[in-house]
Amino acid sequence: FVDLQKLEAGEIANPDEGRMVGHYWLRKPELAPTDELRAAITGPLAALKEFAVKVHGGEVAAPGGERFENLLLIGIGGSALGPQLVNDALGHDSQLNIHFFDNTDPAGIDRTLAEIGQTGLSRTLVLVVSKSGGTPETRNGMVEAKAAYDAAGLDFGKHAVAITGEGSKLDKFADEEGFLAKFPMEDWVGGRTSVMSTVGLVPAALQGIDIDDFLAGAAAMDEETRKADAGTNAAMRLALAWHAAGNGKGEKDMVVLPYKDSLVLFSKYLQQLVMESLGKSEDLDGNTVHQGIAVYGNKGSTDQHAYVQQLRDGVPNFFATFIEVRKGRDGDTIEVEPGNTSADYLQGFLRGTRKALYESGRKSITISIGEVNPFTLGMLIALFERAVSFYASLVNINAYHQPGVEAGKKAAATFLDLLNAVRGRLTADPKNAA
Ligand code: PA5
Repeated sequence: FVDLQKLEAGEIANPDEGRMVGHYWLRKPELAPTDELRAAITGPLAALKEFAVKVHGGEVAAPGGERFENLLLIGIGGSALGPQLVNDALGHDSQLNIHFFDNTDPAGIDRTLAEIGQTGLSRTLVLVVSKSGGTPETRNGMVEAKAAYDAAGLDFGKHAVAITGEGSKLDKFADEEGFLAKFPMEDWVGGRTSVMSTVGLVPAALQGIDIDDFLAGAAAMDEETRKADAGTNAAMRLALAWHAAGNGKGEKDMVVLPYKDSLVLFSKYLQQLVMESLGKSEDLDGNTVHQGIAVYGNKGSTDQHAYVQQLRDGVPNFFATFIEVRKGRDGDTIEVEPGNTSADYLQGFLRGTRKALYESGRKSITISIGEVNPFTLGMLIALFERAVSFYASLVNINAYHQPGVEAGKKAAATFLDLLNAVRGRLTADPKNAA
């Protein structure tokens, strides 16, 4: 990938800044975090671990001394997807049953409340997660939850924890209502990369997931992907592969197929990470670019039966990403037929699909991990986070803002204001009094 001609001609201005890749610079990530950054991380980390220990030990309990048995996480987008992925991948032995309000669909809210049950509410710890503290969907979920607690004669604040930016509306509301605890969400952490911050770590610690291992996996990948050599840096190689596949213009979609049930949400997680970070209309110099990579996916082998016909024979507007997990199950393997286990079947289907795609000229990337555990999940997430930032650097866009999502939030707020105004007028009109 290195443009040797330019290197020899001395056209690479500052070799310390990166490596020439085709016509592009891959900028090196910032060096190690500063002490200030470390302090911003380690303080809340110790506090959230202590909080989880107290909840598990019953020291932090519901009024009346009942231990918390359930968690209800209220959040959306980056404030919910990370905890949902971690729960799906690692939450099988969770110490608390976790539920989510991640949409404003009233039927969904009712169903979740019914699952918890009115008597379960008193033993439910509610985590309200919003960096801005003003996202309408999250506010809506919190109002619904509070109404349920009020109806059950319970004090909502004594069951609630806020994870939010300092001084936000939610931060103030938490103080007014006397929430059990508050954890900061730092301004410099983006929603879609917040799973390693209080957003992902508070629920994970409460579930009893090993967050030290999770962070260690991410730290190991962080170290690996700071290497300047594009040949051995997995994140650079991923970014380059995306770039090559879509001609640097996002011409191909990314189809993600993890061959593991517990990673099914990884496709959805990547949808947010990649699309919200890279879907941009302007580059860093203000040129109109309309960049981005559309992502969709599900899991193998289940969704082969829906996807592979299109992938092999349909429009070749994608590249596939397979995620392979080497270890099949914790216990003994069972032979389904002489010599073959269920895990062999899964491997066979992955390899078969990849071959079928290859034979019809469809490109794919395979990422293999030994097993799904906190360490490997931390690695996997950090790998894609870094690849996204490298790709953004290749195409000269800002991966860390989301004007489109914010425009959507504003438009929804305008619609709600209008609706309120119309309802107000209708109620004020005597003709409509009945
Ligand atoms: O990645 C992002 O910035 C978004 O997806 C946000 O996480 C999402 O919009 C929720 O925002 P907030 O945490 O402010 O409620």
